[in-house]
Amino acid sequence: MKKYKAAVIGLSHISQARAPKPSGMPAVQPLPRSHVAAYAMHPQTELVGACDLMPAAFERFNNTWRDVCPDTRLYTDYREMLAQEKPDIVSVITPDDKHADIVVNVADSGVKAIWCEKPIATTLADADRMIEAVERNGVAMTVSHTRRWMPIFHRVRDLVRDKTYGDLKLVTATSYYSRAMMFRNGTHLFDMLYFLADSEPEWVIGELEDGFDGFDRYQGDGGNLISSEPSANAYIKFKNGVRANVLMVKSNNSTNIIELVFDSAVVRLDGGPQIMVSRVDGPPATATRGAIGVTEIIGYSEWSADRELAVVIELVHALDTGSMPAISPPRVARTTLSLLLGVIESHAKDNAKVRLG
Ligand SMILES: NC(=O)c1ccc[n+]([C@@H]2O[C@H](COP(=O)([O-])OP(=O)(O)OC[C@H]3O[C@@H](n4cnc5c(N)ncnc54)[C@H](O)[C@@H]3O)[C@@H](O)[C@H]2O)c1
Repeated sequence: MKKYKAAVIGLSHISQARAPKPSGMPAVQPLPRSHVAAYAMHPQTELVGACDLMPAAFERFNNTWRDVCPDTRLYTDYREMLAQEKPDIVSVITPDDKHADIVVNVADSGVKAIWCEKPIATTLADADRMIEAVERNGVAMTVSHTRRWMPIFHRVRDLVRDKTYGDLKLVTATSYYSRAMMFRNGTHLFDMLYFLADSEPEWVIGELEDGFDGFDRYQGDGGNLISSEPSANAYIKFKNGVRANVLMVKSNNSTNIIELVFDSAVVRLDGGPQIMVSRVDGPPATATRGAIGVTEIIGYSEWSADRELAVVIELVHALDTGSMPAISPPRVARTTLSLLLGVIESHAKDNAKVRLG
C-alpha cells in the first residue's frame, strides 16, 4: 500500500474540525467532517504540512490534532511548505476568491493531486487558468461540492437515469437558512440541481435578494459576512429539457429541500436520511410530510457517508491508478460556477435569459 504525503493550505473549521470522541457504541464512530480528519483517517495519507497566515489557526491545530499528527510541520508561506515537504496531495481551503492563484502555483509545483474547496473560483477566467494549470501538469483535481459523494443523491439520480417514475420534468432546491448566500451555500444547491438534472445547462434567469441591485460581480468576503453576499432565486433550463428552480431566503430556519417532479411521482429529500416518494399509481398515502402524501420511503441508512473521507478515497485511488477523479472534476465545478455567475448577469440585465455554454 503506497503512502501519500498530504498538506493543507488554510486552517479554518472545515479544514481542521475534529469529531468528538466515540462514546459507548464501538460500531458508531464519529465521522470526519474536515480535511485534516479525513487525511488522518485514511490509511494511505499522512499530513506532513499545514499552512495558514494566522497564528491563532496554529494554536487550534496544536490543541486539536497534536496527538494524531505529532510530526506535521506548520508554515505561514505555502510556497515554502511545498518546497520543503514536497507533498503528493494538497488541500486548498482559503476563501473562494483566493483559490485560483494558489491552485495554479500548487499545480505548477509538481504536486500530483489537489482537493480545492468550493466554489472552484469566483470568476470563469480564474476557473479557466486553474483548469489549464492542472491539465497541463496532469494533476488529479477535485472540487469540494461534497454532496456529490453522498450515496443518497446517487440513488436519486439513478431514479432519473433509469426513468423509474418516467421522465424528470422539474427539480427544485429550496434553502431557507441564515447562510443562504449564493457562493457560500448556494453553490451546493446549484451543483446538486446540475447533478440531478443529468444534463448541461442551456440558460438561466435569476433574481438577487433585495438590496443587491449593484451586485454585478462577486463582491463577497469569502463567505464570512452574511450581508456581503446575496441569496438568489433562479430558473434554469437544461439541455435535456429538465427545468430547475432555486429558491433561497436568508432566514432563521435551517431548511434545505430538494424536490423532483417525474411523470408519475414526486420525490422529496428534506435533509434527512430518507427518500420520500409520492406515486400517482402507488398505495394510499401512509404518512404526510409537508403538503405531500408519501406513498413510499426508500433510501434509509444511506445518508451517513463521510463525504470528506470519500474525497480522499477518490484522490488516493487516482494516485494509485493514474486515473483522474470523476465525481467532482474542475470542469464540472466550472459549469456550476457559470450558473452562479449567470444568475448575477441575468439580474443585472433586468432578469434577462442568460445563455450558457
Ligand atoms: N464544503 C463545505 O461544506 C464548506 C464549509 C465551509 C467552508 N467551505 C469553503 O472553504 C473555503 C474556506 O472557507 P472558510 O470559511 O473556512 O474561510 P476562512 O476565512 O474562515 O478561513 C480561511 C483560512 O485561510 C487562511 N488563508 C488565507 N489565505 C491564505 C494563504 N495565502 N496561505 C495560507 N492560508 C491562507 C486564512 O488565514 C484563514 O485561516 C471556502 O472556499 C468556503 O466556501 C466549504
